[in-house]
Amino acid sequence: MQPIHQRFDVGFRYAVHFTEDAFAPANATLVEALGERSTPGPARALIALDEGARLAHPALKGAIEAYARAHADALEWVAPPLAVPGGEAAKNDPAVVDRLLRAIKSARLCRHSYVVAVGGGAALDAIGYAAAIAHRGLRLIRMPTTVLAQCDSGVGVKNAVNAFGKKNFLGVFAPPFAVVNDFALLRSLSERDWRAGLAEAVKVAVVKDADFFARLESSAAALIAREEVRSREIIRHCARLHLEHIARGGDPFELGSSRPLDFGHWSAHKLEQLTEYRIRHGEAVAIGIALDTLYAEAIEAIDAGSARRIVELLVALGFDLFPPEVASAIDRPESLLAGLEEFREHLGGGLTILLPAAVGRAVEVNAIDSEAMIASLARLESLARGIGPAAEGDAV
Ligand SMILES: NC(=O)c1ccc[n+]([C@@H]2O[C@H](COP(=O)([O-])OP(=O)(O)OC[C@H]3O[C@@H](n4cnc5c(N)ncnc54)[C@H](O)[C@@H]3O)[C@@H](O)[C@H]2O)c1
Ligand SMILES: [Zn+2]
Repeated sequence: MQPIHQRFDVGFRYAVHFTEDAFAPANATLVEALGERSTPGPARALIALDEGARLAHPALKGAIEAYARAHADALEWVAPPLAVPGGEAAKNDPAVVDRLLRAIKSARLCRHSYVVAVGGGAALDAIGYAAAIAHRGLRLIRMPTTVLAQCDSGVGVKNAVNAFGKKNFLGVFAPPFAVVNDFALLRSLSERDWRAGLAEAVKVAVVKDADFFARLESSAAALIAREEVRSREIIRHCARLHLEHIARGGDPFELGSSRPLDFGHWSAHKLEQLTEYRIRHGEAVAIGIALDTLYAEAIEAIDAGSARRIVELLVALGFDLFPPEVASAIDRPESLLAGLEEFREHLGGGLTILLPAAVGRAVEVNAIDSEAMIASLARLESLARGIGPAAEGDAV
């Protein structure tokens, strides 16, 4: 018998809002993000809050409660804000997702209800995963509280937790219902977390947008100083590039082998794991970008001048490209190289690694020369040790 060929298309659309003080009573952005209601009465929503963000904003919990009182016709919190641990702990501890699912069940939320996730990339990943699997998917509104989450992870379609020692082993592709980027929430970030997010901006600039890369170069000092107008503009453009890639890259749910937005990530994920998450995702990505850039130079995929610009931008942004946590975690270069096969396995298909071919342009390769990669790692270590105020002239 002939097979029956099934086919249908599902369109997704969501808004990424940019605002300031989203929980100020007069700010209507969140209410707007709830969209048209399909049920009578206010939107029923469970809000989950990253502990780190909560501690950094002592007034946040009260403001969240007051917000629903000010917009009682549009929004009802079904429970007090649910605490989620900040950072990778949110993704490493299965009890976190379990607690979220129980709260969704106790509040009798349905697919027309909302989960509002406030936090860094890790908390958003765990909350988003719980929201996507409960009843096969509730409406998720992400409110990212880190630079990384506002410009990359929080605006995309992926949600995941770690399991069996593997990063993002359990997860789903599920676009959010809406995203609300509140710049005011970023003011409390540590210097470290502020900087970490900028690595994703460098990543997307290197592979997609030479003008943006030049803007990052000329803005490096302003970004480090957290100059607000410039920082907002960079975060917004970075988010736009990620969104455009998802919408127009032809593979929003990553069914193929090509993954431009994962430039620098094969080693980054392995470094996070090897250092037991003592370095931030963004810090690991900065190292991964530098390593793959030096490798690209070694195999003559990129010219030395362009490679130098990329590494120098990361240094100008204050990244330590071979921090002590990494030095002590990589006992042998082979332990890092194991990340290549893990990366391939996680993404499926054949090994596909994106390397910079120039600033703003990339090339895919399907094999990595281990010796050249090991030599590039050694070069990165010596460069990073030499870079700094005490030792000049040791640049790329
Ligand atoms: N889903 C995706 O597409 C995607 C993409 C990139 C990264 N990620 C994931 O994102 C995670 C990294 O996210 P991240 O860089 O946002 O860091 P993070 O979520 O690990 O948070 C870092 C620290 O900052 C704290 N924090 C959060 N907001 C704060 C605020 N406003 N003020 C003070 N402290 C605050 C957190 O509590 C935590 O301690 C990784 O797990 C990574 O795998 C996911
Ligand atoms: Zn990343």
